[in-house]
Amino acid sequence: MQELQKILDQALQQFSAISEEAELEQVKARYLGKEGSLTVLLKGLGKMSAEERPAAGALINQVKQRIEAALQERRDALQQNILAKKLAAESLDVTLPGRGLAVGGLHPVTRTLNRIEKLFHSIGYAVAEGPEIESDFYNFTALNIPDDHPARAMHDTFYIDERHVLRTHTSPIQIRYMQTHVEKYKHLETMPDIRIIAPGRVYRVDSDATHSPMFHQVEGLWIGERVSFADLNSVVTSFLMNFFENEDIRVRFRPSFFPFTEPSAEMDMSWKDGWLEIGGCGMVHPNVLKHVGIDSEKYIGFAFGMGVERLAMLRYDVNDLRMFFENDLQFLKQFN
Ligand code: DAH
Repeated sequence: MQELQKILDQALQQFSAISEEAELEQVKARYLGKEGSLTVLLKGLGKMSAEERPAAGALINQVKQRIEAALQERRDALQQNILAKKLAAESLDVTLPGRGLAVGGLHPVTRTLNRIEKLFHSIGYAVAEGPEIESDFYNFTALNIPDDHPARAMHDTFYIDERHVLRTHTSPIQIRYMQTHVEKYKHLETMPDIRIIAPGRVYRVDSDATHSPMFHQVEGLWIGERVSFADLNSVVTSFLMNFFENEDIRVRFRPSFFPFTEPSAEMDMSWKDGWLEIGGCGMVHPNVLKHVGIDSEKYIGFAFGMGVERLAMLRYDVNDLRMFFENDLQFLKQFN
């Protein structure tokens, strides 16, 4: 039947031109729907003679099957297309290099603090901490710094309000620690020795190549029944020798004044051909012990305070303290 061949050719051609699934289903109706051309032909079989009918029926069915197969093939192809497009859009190039995790490093001041803590820890010192906003009692009064002392002046202290400051030194930590220690051991006739270092940030209105408004100090304190200036000498000297890995370092004490120690001294360290000041020290003043309830007839001790940036500058040969706080990675990366 010529007509059948025509229908088949037309259907196949139309199907292959379609790119939308919905359109495909519409076109399908033209052939296989209720009024579809093949359906009409099948209905016409009834009018044929009994001899003609089987062969014609078989032929129409053959064409119908081919059209259905072509339809299914086209449906599959369109589905594949959709899937392929989706995959392409969501594709992940696993051959691209990974973003990786940048490796951070410790700041040179942190490294210096860690080193100081480790060295003092090895000779039995605990590490104590305290708040950076201090009351004037802890920052000044308890440390025997009277109301009219120049250290309280507006020009070098950051005041929060009348009674509170950004601590100007780490010495208030020794007051806090001694108070707690006294309370903890009040049931004992003799309290155990106090042996701490107190590292931390401190603040002063000061800024040039060797001063920054924020810097770090480390305070040392040893209180016991028989602590002497000779102990102070040996603790500080051996610390510096270990810190700088140099057995030839000598320490020099110059008489000085601090309200919280008596006698007081500046500590200098031999460096290259001269001396460098690295901090202050002295025997803790009886008034300070009195403020925290320690019997100054029975106990005695020393305290010292050192600048952490100063130690870091010497150890790493940095000549401008401000470099530590500029967050310049080129500078900071050198220490890791
Ligand atoms: N607190 C002093 C300062 O910041 C440093 C200091 C000096 C601490 C002598 C001490 C000390 O413990 O005994 O200037």
